[in-house]
Amino acid sequence: MTSGSFPVTSALLLGLAVCGVACGTEGSDSTSSSSSSGGAAAFDEAAVRAAAANHAQAGFTRVNQDPVPGSVHMGSTVNVWVNGAGLATYRGINPANPSSAVFPSGTIIVKEQTESSGTKGLTILAKADPGFDTDHNDWWWARTDAQGAVLGGFSGRVQFCLDCHAGVSTSDYVWGVATDNRTP
Ligand code: HEC
Repeated sequence: MTSGSFPVTSALLLGLAVCGVACGTEGSDSTSSSSSSGGAAAFDEAAVRAAAANHAQAGFTRVNQDPVPGSVHMGSTVNVWVNGAGLATYRGINPANPSSAVFPSGTIIVKEQTESSGTKGLTILAKADPGFDTDHNDWWWARTDAQGAVLGGFSGRVQFCLDCHAGVSTSDYVWGVATDNRTP
């Protein structure tokens, strides 16, 4: 991953600059920034992380009504927030009756992991332009703290996220929220 295309001003504004190079060097072999090696449109990771960290102010809609007990990700409970580009598609997924779905480029889905003490961290899915990761529907994956700084080097085409979400590849690697726990 390069930092060359990061808009420095927004990174500074959001305090993400502290992350710097260190956040990108702790990764394991299971991560890579992207399977594309040129050609694909640039993906503005910093802008996505900033929007995800500020989801409430950035116009995201919370999809679940009550906090969902956390299962596989960090946190006691989770909330799922989706931006305007992906909202209708997300609401079209019924985990009890999976059907095919295809999210448009520009979709950002944020899973917020919460404890009584506050937000513990985020997992983020963002749909890049075609060519970013052609074999896996061009999703960008990340785990961050509440401010959007990458944790453990997990950002890009993260294999361990993909391995598990492959269980729902027909609905574009997205699980969805139970229909009896939706916001209007
Ligand atoms: C062991 C399996 C597993 C792994 C590994 C995993 N996830 Fe998930 N993820 C799930 C399941 C199951 C759900 C839905 C149920 C829930 O929220 O607990 C989910 C939900 C999500 C959601 C909410 C959108 C949706 O699918 O409805 C996001 C965003 C997400 N995961 C991102 C990530 C990212 C990023 C990683 C890697 C850093 C990751 N996940 C790793 C199983 C996994």
